[in-house]
Amino acid sequence: NDTTDLKFSTTLNPTPATPERRAQIHAQPGFGKFFTDHMVSIDWTHGEGWHDAGLIPYGPIQMDPAAAVLHYAQEIFEGLKAYRHADGSVWSFRPEANAARLARSARRLALPELPEEDFLASIDLLVKTDQAWVPDHASGESSLYLRPFMYASESFLGVRPSKTVRYLLIASPVGPYFSGGVKPVSIWLSSTYTRAALGGTGAAKCGGNYAAGLAAQLEAEAHGCEQVCFLDAAEHRWVEELGGMNIYFVTKDGTLVTPTVSGTILEGITRSSILTLAGELGLKVEERPISIDEWRAGVASGEITEVFACGTAAVITPLGALAWEGGELEIPTGEVAMKIRQSLLDIQYGRAEDTHGWMRQL
Ligand code: PLP
Ligand code: COI
Repeated sequence: NDTTDLKFSTTLNPTPATPERRAQIHAQPGFGKFFTDHMVSIDWTHGEGWHDAGLIPYGPIQMDPAAAVLHYAQEIFEGLKAYRHADGSVWSFRPEANAARLARSARRLALPELPEEDFLASIDLLVKTDQAWVPDHASGESSLYLRPFMYASESFLGVRPSKTVRYLLIASPVGPYFSGGVKPVSIWLSSTYTRAALGGTGAAKCGGNYAAGLAAQLEAEAHGCEQVCFLDAAEHRWVEELGGMNIYFVTKDGTLVTPTVSGTILEGITRSSILTLAGELGLKVEERPISIDEWRAGVASGEITEVFACGTAAVITPLGALAWEGGELEIPTGEVAMKIRQSLLDIQYGRAEDTHGWMRQL
């Protein structure tokens, strides 16, 4: 990693939220609806690199109508959380992995790489300044969701990588991603839409991937389902992932199976943490292609005993039903997903020892 001499300036918000307002938000945060008092901004200019790093009041940004991001979607983002432990300290989970993934996404979207130390410094600075916004340990599953992102800010309508880019970090106190607690989510298999093809941007965390999934999400909702599971673009046969979560299958002999990340799937940090935790919980793990036929037949025969989705926002959420044009299938739920969920949350909230060095104190 390059080292930088980027220095952050600080401009405090003259009108921060009152403690009463914050308490109101903490009582019912929802997901991604409320934001803290500050944000971090860093600019990048071609030939000059990263400059003008600073903490500033949270608020609207100025953008030229010709800004490249508004036309050609040259944009990437990350998602991670800060957790408050019982002793009041605040920790993030594997932020170095988010820094590395942001850099991989940047390469794919022809954006500049933000050095890891600057990424981590931006998180430290924002969370330290807005630490009162990190929900209480006693609140259960609440945390401060951090959203770093980077976009093409140059006003120019030609199609080429932007010569100016802006990195921003904002933070939002959040509760569970799915309202109503941990209840099984229903899944729609689209025969119309795919998310990513080989050589495309599926492995990058870019806004365009999510925009392209929205029509499929609407199709799912029109069929009474909550989320979409995308199949591969070439054969429409191999299970890839959900719009914002990776997927795991549990077989009756206690094996976890998750699709191989082969260029079209986002390599989730929760997914990778589960690969590590599984062994410690006495489960075998396999990364391999899994077909939709195997999913359907496995549930029908009892070979597959649970299916769950995983991601920073959703943590681990069991899948309870699968529907497609002309059919549906109920998916059993069980103990394995909940056991993994608990052991992950115990590490994140400091209730279990962090033997992997995953937690970084802020
Ligand atoms: N897949 C997609 C498409 C996502 O948006 C996310 C969320 O970030 C994930 C998977 C899970 O990744 P992570 O566990 O790093 O949050
Ligand atoms: C995350 O889990 O951090 C994501 O970005 C997924 C999104 C659906 C909120």
